[in-house]
Amino acid sequence: MEVSTRSSQEPQALCGQTILEPSLNSPAPGPVPTEEKRPFIQRLFTRIAPRYDWFNRLASCGLDQHWRKTVVERAGIQPNHRVLDVCAGTGDLAILCATRQRGVGLVVGLDMNRAMLTCAQRKQRAKQLAITWFEGDAEALPFTNDSFDRVVVGFSTRNLTNLTNGLREMVRVLRPNGQLVILETGHPANPIVWLAYQAFLFTVARVVGFLVTGEWWPFTYLAKSVRQFLTPPQVMERLQSVHAAVQYLPLSCGLASVYLATKLSQDQHSTSLSGMNDSATIDRPRWQPHEPPTSSTLDQALTPIRRELDAVTERLLEQLDDPVARNVVYLITAGGKRLRPALVLLTGLSGRAPNRRALIDTATAVELIHTATLIHDDIIDQSQLRRAQPTFHERWGTERALLMGDYLHSTAFRLLAQLQVPEVMGVMADVCQQLCRGELREVEARYRLDLREDEYLEIIRDKTASLISGCCQVGAQLGGYAPDAIRHLAAFGLHLGLAFQIIDDCLDLTGDTRELGKSIHADLDKGALSLPIIYLTQTLSTTERDRLFAPLREHATDPEFLTRIAQAAASAGAIARAQRRAAEFARTAQELVAQIPLNGLMGAYQQLSEYAVSRRS
Ligand code: FPP
Ligand code: MG
Repeated sequence: MEVSTRSSQEPQALCGQTILEPSLNSPAPGPVPTEEKRPFIQRLFTRIAPRYDWFNRLASCGLDQHWRKTVVERAGIQPNHRVLDVCAGTGDLAILCATRQRGVGLVVGLDMNRAMLTCAQRKQRAKQLAITWFEGDAEALPFTNDSFDRVVVGFSTRNLTNLTNGLREMVRVLRPNGQLVILETGHPANPIVWLAYQAFLFTVARVVGFLVTGEWWPFTYLAKSVRQFLTPPQVMERLQSVHAAVQYLPLSCGLASVYLATKLSQDQHSTSLSGMNDSATIDRPRWQPHEPPTSSTLDQALTPIRRELDAVTERLLEQLDDPVARNVVYLITAGGKRLRPALVLLTGLSGRAPNRRALIDTATAVELIHTATLIHDDIIDQSQLRRAQPTFHERWGTERALLMGDYLHSTAFRLLAQLQVPEVMGVMADVCQQLCRGELREVEARYRLDLREDEYLEIIRDKTASLISGCCQVGAQLGGYAPDAIRHLAAFGLHLGLAFQIIDDCLDLTGDTRELGKSIHADLDKGALSLPIIYLTQTLSTTERDRLFAPLREHATDPEFLTRIAQAAASAGAIARAQRRAAEFARTAQELVAQIPLNGLMGAYQQLSEYAVSRRS
């Protein structure tokens, strides 16, 4: 998020300094002319700021906080999101967003009223949350384009002087496909409910307002502003006019409205306009938010366990709900494939008596172990990119990376210990020893041009396939499989893991950094010989091999050398041969589970085996 200088009004971040109360002017009488609306709203909120939360809670019987929680949920706020709360007022919505992010993301609250922000800041400090407050104008936001993943606004669009300008600004600062979520008072479709609602606002709500602040006029304005505000189709119209696809969600019989708007790119906007039908209604929104395509074989394989995988993500974040673990959340949420937890869940849920809770905790533990190994592996390999993000040691230094790996590893074992299933604990302890053995053997084997296929396979069995096999084994144990089937499923995982790592090594030569989210040519530049390179050396005489690989010890990082080797491996057919070998392992994996009862999940096993060899990232 960058602060832009486009606004005439300089933004002012409130970072702990005393905020002076502006002087109180007398309220504007009667209807508020447009040009006077802004100073009027300023006076109103300055007057009621200290008691505004009381009024909200009492007048809505606590429903207002329930509605805000719905907004935060529907906005799908993730820990790494940059979130802007426009017209943040006393900060309730921003505080819920920051709480959901467990202090890891970036939450900015902006409001034009200093008295309201003072209340917000006080609450935020009491809760020890990190939120940056800005005093500024919602209709001229002081941020550059595409700065935020989510923009939220609660019960304030009614108070904007020019609604379209405000919405345009909110959409402008969102990244493409980012979401603007608006919570506003509603306009119930049922006329009787609508009349009763207005009667309530002009009587009960005004009395409550008077009792808590000693003033009538602010609450007369608030009641009128609800009555006069646009209907849901009109709000949707405005949102569409500022390049947003919109969905309307009435809450509590329409007493409150939520608008979920997705920022469209220019192309999407023209498509949506050409497909628009003027008779579209609230029930049938004109344009649905854009969803990324979900057709890959991995996505298909994960469909039956999607709910459990989401529970694993929640559990992972719970395990990391400690200030020392905050730095690693970006990596956990950076979009890893979650293949290992998926295998725990799949092998468990295909069993005859799955222990769902234990499966979710075990799947969480294996993802923690996997992330620990990645952090340590990236130090060893001096890699700079992981899951399209800077590696942990690049971002936070090697000391913290070593410790964070150990922290995640111990967190995983604490979780496993709580399960009190000694078999699961035993398997995972063995796996961790094997992972280290594999890495040690890979380091020992560096620069050995005479490395054989069987030696390579032992290394990747230990450093990669052991964990994948262990995931299947513990999943099967918790799924209630018989010992023989557990052995078959462990062997399935082993073969899948071998296929998976061989393809990883092929992609290191043929892949694309953007697609992979990590650097390419990263094996050989550390002197590690992978299967396609071993196959290449087998096509050469010793003299040819030594000549081709001469720069390996001194200049292995030279991009020209690495590209030359990758091209030689491709033209010698070595990469294709390695891919065929991976396909053989995947086929064996498939055969191993053919005889086992899989509770209707055979398709998912098949898709995973296909994915292991067809993947491009
Ligand atoms: C991938 O290697 C291998 C691993 C991720 C395993 C690493 C294991 C350790 C560092 C042992 C530490 C163990 C614990 C329990 C903390 P790769 O470099 O071929 O894969 P890449 O291309 O994804 O980096
Ligand atoms: Mg590596």
